[in-house]
Amino acid sequence: MQAWTGGERLHLGAEAEVISGSWHGRSAILKKRRPRGWRHPDLDASLTRKRMTNEIKLTIWLASRGAPVPAIWDVDMEEASIIMERIEGRPLIEVLHSNEHDEELLISVGKAIRELHRNAVNHGDLSTNNILINSNRDAVLIDLGLATREYDLEGFGIDLHVLHEILRASHPSVKGAMDLVLKGYLALDEELGNPEAAPGGMPPKAIEVVKRLEQIMKRVRYHGG
Ligand SMILES: Nc1ncnc2c1ncn2[C@@H]1O[C@H](COP(=O)(O)OP(=O)(O)OP(=O)(O)O)[C@@H](O)[C@H]1O
Ligand SMILES: [Mg+2]
Repeated sequence: MQAWTGGERLHLGAEAEVISGSWHGRSAILKKRRPRGWRHPDLDASLTRKRMTNEIKLTIWLASRGAPVPAIWDVDMEEASIIMERIEGRPLIEVLHSNEHDEELLISVGKAIRELHRNAVNHGDLSTNNILINSNRDAVLIDLGLATREYDLEGFGIDLHVLHEILRASHPSVKGAMDLVLKGYLALDEELGNPEAAPGGMPPKAIEVVKRLEQIMKRVRYHGG
């Protein structure tokens, strides 16, 4: 990866290390998956490969559809690393904690999620760390290692439910946050009409996903899980 010039480390987590830098002179990041010591090395390598392939395949597909994800510029499977466009901005978790959000921002988060779902992709890990807010105050979704192609209502409903639980637990002072996210989620179908067929089938309508989310929330309240 000669076109790459590395800079400072932005993140060191259990799964990945993220380094800022430039790629052919453009602002980029390098995401390198870390070996997980407690797993058998063969299993670890195959899991790493699976998640990386997922992330690359679905991120590229979404970018080609104009959905808000970073552009992927280079991949090294041996090194388990990906070079992608750097999104200038901050994760939603920080924006919420520092109280710099407004209604528009949460609506744009809902629209960004709906763009994935309209293209039959379930994010799989919708935490407020994996939603970046760029300098235009638009939401960009990252970290698609657990994403899947999805056509069932339940999968999309669970994707929204994960974010709902995180907003409730980690950001209780942000009142009505999920309602605004859902407002944006529904608004995109009003703007663009029903989703088009994706390879594999028809993604469900936004209104159906939101109804399913409400059912999931009731289920969780009754059964606590
Ligand atoms: N394209 C990007 N532009 C700017 N920052 C990024 C980009 N991708 C990742 N980051 C930063 O690096 C952090 C970690 O990246 P990512 O979420 O993809 O890894 P992860 O799989 O969650 O890693 P771990 O599980 O080890 O925490 C993000 O929360 C974000 O702050
Ligand atoms: Mg992440």
